[in-house]
Amino acid sequence: MGENSPRRTMQLGKIPRIRLGEYPTPLAELPNLSRVLGGPRLFIKREDLVGIALGGNKVRKLEYALAEALAQRATVLITSGAVQSNHVRLTIACANRLGLRTVVVLRGEKPSLPTGNLLLDHILGVAEVHWVDPKGYATREELVRATEARAQELAEELRRRGEVPYVIPNGCKPLHSALAYAGCVLELLEQMRAQNLAPDAIVTACGTAGTQTGLILGSLLFAQGQIRVVGISVSAKAEVLRERLRRNLEEALRFLGLDLPVPETAIEVHDGYVGPGYALPTPEMKRAVELLARTEGILLDPVYTGKAMAGLLDLVRQGAFRGAENVVFLHTGGVPALFADTQAPTFYPA
Ligand SMILES: Cc1ncc(COP(=O)(O)O)c(C=O)c1O
Repeated sequence: MGENSPRRTMQLGKIPRIRLGEYPTPLAELPNLSRVLGGPRLFIKREDLVGIALGGNKVRKLEYALAEALAQRATVLITSGAVQSNHVRLTIACANRLGLRTVVVLRGEKPSLPTGNLLLDHILGVAEVHWVDPKGYATREELVRATEARAQELAEELRRRGEVPYVIPNGCKPLHSALAYAGCVLELLEQMRAQNLAPDAIVTACGTAGTQTGLILGSLLFAQGQIRVVGISVSAKAEVLRERLRRNLEEALRFLGLDLPVPETAIEVHDGYVGPGYALPTPEMKRAVELLARTEGILLDPVYTGKAMAGLLDLVRQGAFRGAENVVFLHTGGVPALFADTQAPTFYPA
């Protein structure tokens, strides 16, 4: 592809990357929602429309992970996640494009009927599904660790059988996430510049914090840190995420050979919208999902973007974006979870 081709994608750092998505992902304005809230101008960056298996923020990250897998001549991928993991769905889909099989470890009880993401995992032809029963683990953290340990054990077993397994951690490696979402900021800046606009703030769901790391890195690299990046936690406490963001940013800057200061104010995470826990519904999430659907015809998911939007709505109402002209909400995907048997009753109570 020629140097000046519009399909050329930006390469950050000397690290292999393969293109799996369609870029730029669409950027749309949300005029009806802005009107309901009384400003600021709101935009949505549609990472859910990245063009593979119902999309989401994992595709950009997997472009780095799968390039590394290919460089290592992997014959099989192994990854792990929750029963309704978007990361697992997209890993299988991206691996299919490269002709690789995917073995997955899911934490949770095997349902009698697969719905939502789990149904899609099967349609996509997941090679093997291993289950880690949550009974016997006191905390979610312990369960997550046990699931990841099982993935490593499976990798060992496969290695003994002569395979070359490549293990992708849930949410991908922090460095891959950081480079992926710094690139997304550059893409967004170009899209807005074409309309004579500039983003003042980006709001995102924060799970493993990889996406937010990349957005902050992108703001520092391409906008002198002038884009405020607001993370809305879907699970962990803000101080845990702040610590992780700082560590991830240090790693990414070290990798890029940059000695940029990261001001304390650059790391903003809100943990007041999690509710009773990860993936558990809140009335605010339900209202946010319904509001965007009913004003703009756009569907969010109940686990990540629904809670992130609940955060955005509340922060706008509190005046937290006073002075900001253009606020961009990152639609990180996840919509298949709306069709999970565990989530449907939230929106259609018996
Ligand atoms: C739909 C969706 N949004 C947001 C996130 C959170 O992204 P990160 O783990 O990079 O914080 C995830 C991660 O699983 C996701 O699936």
